[in-house]
Amino acid sequence: MIIGVPKEIKNNENRVALTPAGAKELVKRGHSVYVQHTAGEGSGFADTEYEAAGATILPTIEATYEIAEMIMKVKEPIEPEYKLIKENQLLFTYFHFASYEPLTKAMVESKSVCLAYETVEKSDRSLPLLVPMSEVAGRMAIQKGANYLEKPLGGRGILLGGVPGVLPAKVLILGGGVVGTQAAWMAAGLGADVTIMDVSLARMRYLADVMPANVKTMMSNEYNIREMIKHADLIVGAVLIPGAKAPHLITRDMLKDMKKGTVLVDVAVDQGGCIETCKPTTHENPTYVIDDVVHYCVANMPGAVPYTSTLALTNATLPYAIQLADKGWKKAAQDNQELALGLNVINGEIVYKAVADAFDMPYALVEKYLA
Ligand SMILES: NC(=O)c1ccc[n+]([C@@H]2O[C@H](COP(=O)([O-])OP(=O)(O)OC[C@H]3O[C@@H](n4cnc5c(N)ncnc54)[C@H](O)[C@@H]3O)[C@@H](O)[C@H]2O)c1
Repeated sequence: MIIGVPKEIKNNENRVALTPAGAKELVKRGHSVYVQHTAGEGSGFADTEYEAAGATILPTIEATYEIAEMIMKVKEPIEPEYKLIKENQLLFTYFHFASYEPLTKAMVESKSVCLAYETVEKSDRSLPLLVPMSEVAGRMAIQKGANYLEKPLGGRGILLGGVPGVLPAKVLILGGGVVGTQAAWMAAGLGADVTIMDVSLARMRYLADVMPANVKTMMSNEYNIREMIKHADLIVGAVLIPGAKAPHLITRDMLKDMKKGTVLVDVAVDQGGCIETCKPTTHENPTYVIDDVVHYCVANMPGAVPYTSTLALTNATLPYAIQLADKGWKKAAQDNQELALGLNVINGEIVYKAVADAFDMPYALVEKYLA
C-alpha cells in the first residue's frame, strides 16, 4: 500500500503519525511510505532518518495527499486539507467528529474512508489509542503541579516530597483511571502524600493492591471531597464518565476552603472539567488565579512533550496501521472488530451512530460495507 504522512498544520501541533522506526516496519513489509518534508521535525525526527528507514520525502502536503492510498495523521484534517482528500482514500487519525460538524460534513462530501483513533475499541471497552495520551497527561499533571506549587509561580511554596524533618505535600487525585493512576505513580515517586478518590470500589481495590504505601484511596463523594480539599496542596482532576460532560466535583464555593496557593490541575478540562472554575487554557498561557488558587487547565497537555507523545501514540497505532496496510481497510476491519469500531465515515455515509446522532445526520450500518 502507498502510505502518506503529512506534516501536521494545526496550530502548535508538533506530533507526527509515524516515526522512522514505524516507517521501517511498513517498508519491510513491502509498502511504500511517503513523508512530507519536515513532518517529523517537531518531534525530533529528521527527513534523513525517514530516508534511512526506506521512506521517500515529498516536498509538499499536496504531493503527499495526492500519492497516498492511506493517510496517517495525528489531528483531524483542518479546513485547508479538506480539498486534498480523495475519494476512497483511507484516513487514519484522531477525528473527534461529534465535536465539530463542519469536519463531519467535509469528510462525508470527500467520500473518503475515515478510521478514527478515538473509537478503535477493545472487547473490554477500553480505547487503546486514547490510553497513551492519558498516560502522558497523567504523568505531566504532577510535573506541572509541582512546578506551579513554587512560590514565584503563584503556589504555596511547598516541595512535593518535603525533606527529612519536613512533611511532604498532600496531593489529591479525583478519578483513579488511566490519568489518575499515572499521576499517582509520579506523585508517590516524588515522595508526596497521595490520596486517590474514585466511585468504583473495584478500581480502588486494585489501586490499593498495586500502589506504594504513600498512596491511599478514598470514596469520592461531596462530603469527603469537602474535607480533603482543606488540606490538599495539589489537586488533580482526572474524572471521566464516558460520553458525558465531567461532573463538577469541586464547585466555585469550595475554593474559599482551600489553602492560599493550592494548585489545581484539571486534566479532564477537555470534557468540560471536574472543577467548576476551570476553563481551557493553552501552553502559551497555561494558568490563572481565582481566590488565591492556581488553575492549570491546558486542554492538550501531551502537545508540550511531542517526542514522548509521538512515540507513545505510534507504539499504539502502528500495529493497527500494519493491519490496514497489509490487508486494506475492509479486510482488516472484517478480521478485527477493534478496527471495525474505528470506522466513522465511508463513501459519503456516516457509519458510527453517535456521530450521526450528534448532528441529526443519516446513518448507515458499518456491516453494509463489511459484508
Ligand atoms: N487535558 C489533556 O491534555 C488530556 C489528555 C488526556 C486525557 N484527558 C482527559 O482526562 C480525563 C480522564 O481520562 P482517563 O483516561 O483517566 O479516563 P478513565 O476512564 O481511565 O478514568 C476515569 C475515572 O474516573 C472515575 N470517576 C467517575 N466518576 C467519578 C467521580 N464522581 N469521582 C471520582 N472518580 C470518578 C471512574 O471510575 C474512572 O476510574 C478524560 O476527560 C480525558 O479526556 C485530558
